[in-house]
Amino acid sequence: MCPDDSRPRFHAAGVPLRGPVIVASGPLTSRLSLLRLADSAGAGAVSLKLTFLKPPFAGEMRSFSVLDSVILSPVERRLAIDEGVELCRNAKAETSLPVWANYSAGDPDEWLVLTEAFLAAGADGLELNFCCPNLDTSYGRGARSSTHAGALICTDPDLVVSIVRNVAEHFPEARLLPKIVNNTHLFREVVGAVAEGGASGVHVVGQPVSGAPPVDPDTLKPVLPFADGVSFGSTNGSVCLYNTLKCVAEARLAAPKLDIVASGGVSDWSDCVSMYAYGADAVALCSAVMWHGWKLVSSISENLLRYFDARGIDGPAAVRDAALQHLVSPAHLRLSPLRASVDVDKCAGCGRCLSIGHCEAVSLRDGKAFIDPALCMSCGVCRSVCPADAIVYDDDPRCRKEP
Ligand SMILES: Cc1cc2nc3c(=O)[nH]c(=O)nc-3n(C[C@H](O)[C@H](O)[C@H](O)COP(=O)(O)O)c2cc1C
Repeated sequence: MCPDDSRPRFHAAGVPLRGPVIVASGPLTSRLSLLRLADSAGAGAVSLKLTFLKPPFAGEMRSFSVLDSVILSPVERRLAIDEGVELCRNAKAETSLPVWANYSAGDPDEWLVLTEAFLAAGADGLELNFCCPNLDTSYGRGARSSTHAGALICTDPDLVVSIVRNVAEHFPEARLLPKIVNNTHLFREVVGAVAEGGASGVHVVGQPVSGAPPVDPDTLKPVLPFADGVSFGSTNGSVCLYNTLKCVAEARLAAPKLDIVASGGVSDWSDCVSMYAYGADAVALCSAVMWHGWKLVSSISENLLRYFDARGIDGPAAVRDAALQHLVSPAHLRLSPLRASVDVDKCAGCGRCLSIGHCEAVSLRDGKAFIDPALCMSCGVCRSVCPADAIVYDDDPRCRKEP
């Protein structure tokens, strides 16, 4: 079942994991007390908070948060090298967690200094941060950023190759996991650049890179609590899921042999399975644990183990890439001629499905919804609005009961 039997059940980019859920770099991994909680919750590994030789500007976390939807955060406290290295050393001494260091730099020597320091502190792997969007100060009234770090690196595949290669050549034993975003149309080239540079894997984040919070209609000020002013910010949480799934598939197609870690929008075990099926070897979470606490790490891990057991498989490797065979261009999708219908035993006749803006197929007959097959477009929207789950599609076995 596992393509390489010498590999542990859960692993990513050369690092054996204790369980399937990685806690992604961010507020959850910035203090030893929190890393202890990650340890107790059975996290597979952690990636420490972003560290710089010297953080480009001071900050503490501010966010616009909508439960189970988005955490938009333009600023957070970053660690300076001494803090990051001490955190890494303590995490290795006081927990049993595999630890990735997560760091970024503006020039080749800085990358080497940080790499050497984290390896000496016992980091199991090195997450080269090519993804943080909160370094570019060129919008608003700020002057253009002088720090060509974080997500700015991802705009230039040649720079990606040179950074990864430089670190890999100086530290050939290090397990390198560059963390990338799709902030340009060059995403596949960036994945290729990570592989060409000699990394052990790639961490793909499906963030829309950065966003702006909404504006209060009364005050006409953007909503960013506890801040005077507003800034574009990294956009995390469930809103990212679908972009992440796409990025994982693209990364797998671009680099079939590279290990892939995925984060962005995962909130339950089935999201993890989707990630594996599109090509991920392992999955990391941040926002969902911020909203729901450490018990989520344990419950997702337990549910995944149940899923693997129920299928009689050992772990993610057995389902990895399974969805890719179904990927075709829109022009090559084969469209089913079948239509939606109504399970009359379930339909309460509430009429919610009659108010779908673009659909003229639904009416009420004898107090129950009726879908006219001649008018139904098979668009797939009505089932999502029905509060009684009474709308049946042809991919659902219940449909066969319908005339
Ligand atoms: C407040 C906040 C701070 C973050 N800080 C970092 C960071 O320091 N380094 C990093 O690589 N990713 C950082 N991330 C991104 C997360 O590691 C993760 O990749 C992203 O949030 C997508 O996962 P999620 O949808 O589960 O939150 C941060 C995310 C949030 C919400």
